[in-house]
Amino acid sequence: MESVIVAIDGPSGTGKSSTSKAVAAKLGLSYLDTGAQYRAITWWMLRNGVDVADPAAIAAAAGKPGIVSGTDPAAPTITVDGTDVAAPIRTQEVTSKVSAVSAVPEVRHVITELQRSIARAAREGIVVEGRDIGTTVLPDADLKVFLTASPEARAARRSGELKGKEASDLAATRQALVARDAADSGRKTSPLAKAGDAVEVDTTDLSLQQVVECVVTLVEEKR
Ligand code: C5P
Repeated sequence: MESVIVAIDGPSGTGKSSTSKAVAAKLGLSYLDTGAQYRAITWWMLRNGVDVADPAAIAAAAGKPGIVSGTDPAAPTITVDGTDVAAPIRTQEVTSKVSAVSAVPEVRHVITELQRSIARAAREGIVVEGRDIGTTVLPDADLKVFLTASPEARAARRSGELKGKEASDLAATRQALVARDAADSGRKTSPLAKAGDAVEVDTTDLSLQQVVECVVTLVEEKR
């Protein structure tokens, strides 16, 4: 079968990661989590004392960390200068700073080039998930999907992922998600946006399996 490139964008908590991994595994494609890359560069900045409130300091350091993404959908990996950062990039500290770091154009340039080179190297094809994949990173993708869900559904899913959290954290999770989406949608350089030719799928009332089937069908129609 021909190589196929699938872009899956949308705000946090819409099921992008679970959907993208499952679609890639089902179709024998590679998988790239671009949010993990922005989290990794943010982790490196925090660890190396870069002032993440200072866009000039972030810009000056943007090219320094060596980020490597493993693209097997069954076991995706992310390292920075050889260190496995899969766990530390999910901390609250990184999550609260990632939008500020990812808004800096120099950061986006470095990470976008990395993403394009990974997509080019994927022989069978790749599923790439993020916020600006269909609009900026891979505008010629064979299929673009934009996932949405109600803020309540998104907060509930995210809370479920944060093990050990209490139900009372739901409101705080929702507030943090809405704030992060607003920052990601409002930035000047390649904001979170639906590409004109993307297929929008509202996942609020769908199971993961239903969303995966829907996207697999869309891919097969394109092949
Ligand atoms: O997908 P995830 O929630 O891990 O993404 C973390 C953050 O990375 C987003 O809130 C956004 O600031 C940034 N991001 C981005 N562009 C992408 C993917 C993620 O700016 N393509």
